[in-house]
Amino acid sequence: MSSKSEPQVVIRTATAADSAICGGICYQAFLKLSATHGFPCDFPGPEAAAGILSMLFSNPGFYCVVAESGGHVVGSNCLDERSLIAGIGPITVDPHTQNLGVGRKLMQAVMERARESRPAGMRLVQAAYHNRSLSLYTTLGFDVREPLSCVQGRPLERNVPDCVVRPARGSDLDACNALSLRVHGFERGTELADAIQQKTASVVERGGRITGFATALAFFGHATAESNLDMQSLIASAESFGGPGILVPSRNSALLRWCLANGLRVVEPMTLMSVGLYNEPAGAWLPSVSF
Ligand SMILES: CC(C)(COP(=O)(O)OP(=O)(O)OC[C@H]1O[C@@H](n2cnc3c(N)ncnc32)[C@H](O)[C@@H]1OP(=O)(O)O)[C@@H](O)C(=O)NCCC(=O)NCCS
Repeated sequence: MSSKSEPQVVIRTATAADSAICGGICYQAFLKLSATHGFPCDFPGPEAAAGILSMLFSNPGFYCVVAESGGHVVGSNCLDERSLIAGIGPITVDPHTQNLGVGRKLMQAVMERARESRPAGMRLVQAAYHNRSLSLYTTLGFDVREPLSCVQGRPLERNVPDCVVRPARGSDLDACNALSLRVHGFERGTELADAIQQKTASVVERGGRITGFATALAFFGHATAESNLDMQSLIASAESFGGPGILVPSRNSALLRWCLANGLRVVEPMTLMSVGLYNEPAGAWLPSVSF
C-alpha cells in the first residue's frame, strides 16, 4: 500500500489567463530538477516559460490542461494536435506537490483526449537524467525510441558546399510535406505553416531541389532532411539556437561528430519516447522538444 497521501485534484482546460501562474510553476519545476542534477535550467526565467505557455494555451492546435488542488493551480500539460502524431508537453507540477500523483493525472487527461481524436501515435521528449518522468511515461505505455543530445553553440562552418539555405515560403509547403512523408511517414505541414508565418522556418536547396527544412533551429523547432549534408547546412546557417539548444539523435554518430567538430557543446541528454505508430526515420532529422 502507498504511504503517499494523494491530494484531491481537478483537471480542467487551460486558458490564456492561466499562463502566468503555470509559467511560474513550469520554471520552478525545471529549475529544481536541473539544479538537483547539476544541469542548466531549460528556461531562463518564469517570464519565458509563461510566454511559451501563453502561446500554447491560446493556439487552437493545442489541447492544454491545468491541475487544481485546494482551489490552487498546481501544474499543467499540453497536447499538440497539429499532425497525425500528437506531441505531449511541457508537463510540470509545482515542486511542493510532486510525486503525489498529479503528473499521472495530467498525463492521463491528454492521453484520454488523444484517444478521442485518434492520432496515429503520441510522442514526447524526456530529460534522460530524470528517473521519475522516465518511470511515469514508461508505466503509461511509452517506449524509448531515440537517445538525443541537446547541443548549443555557434557552428564554426557557416556554409556547406552545394547547399543553399534560405527562409521558407508558403510555396515550399508541398515539397517539405513530401520530404517529411518520405523520411517519417507523415507530414507536419501545419507546424511548418505556423513557423513560416512566424518567420523562423528555413529550407535547404541542393541541385535545384528542396532537400531539407527546419521550422526553427531551436529547442521548440524540428528539422528534416534527405541527408546529413543537408542537415549540416541548415545547422551551419543558424546564428544561434533558440532555448537550450537543438536535439541531435545521438545514434546519428556522423552528425553528432560533425556538430562537435564544429565547436558545439553537449548541454544535456534527452530521450524521445512514443506510444502507437513509430517509423524509424529514413533520413536526417532533429526532433523538437515535443517530438
Ligand atoms: C515529471 C513530473 C511532471 C511528474 O509529476 P509528479 O506529480 O511528480 O508525478 P506522479 O507522482 O504523478 O508520478 C510519478 C510516478 O513515478 C514513480 N517514480 C518516481 N521516482 C521513481 C523511480 N526512481 N523509480 C521508479 N518509479 C518512480 C512514482 O512512484 C509515481 O508512480 P505511481 O503513480 O505508480 O506511484 C514532475 O515531477 C515535474 O514537474 N518534474 C519537473 C519537470 C519535468 O521533468 N517535466 C517533464 C519533462 S519531460
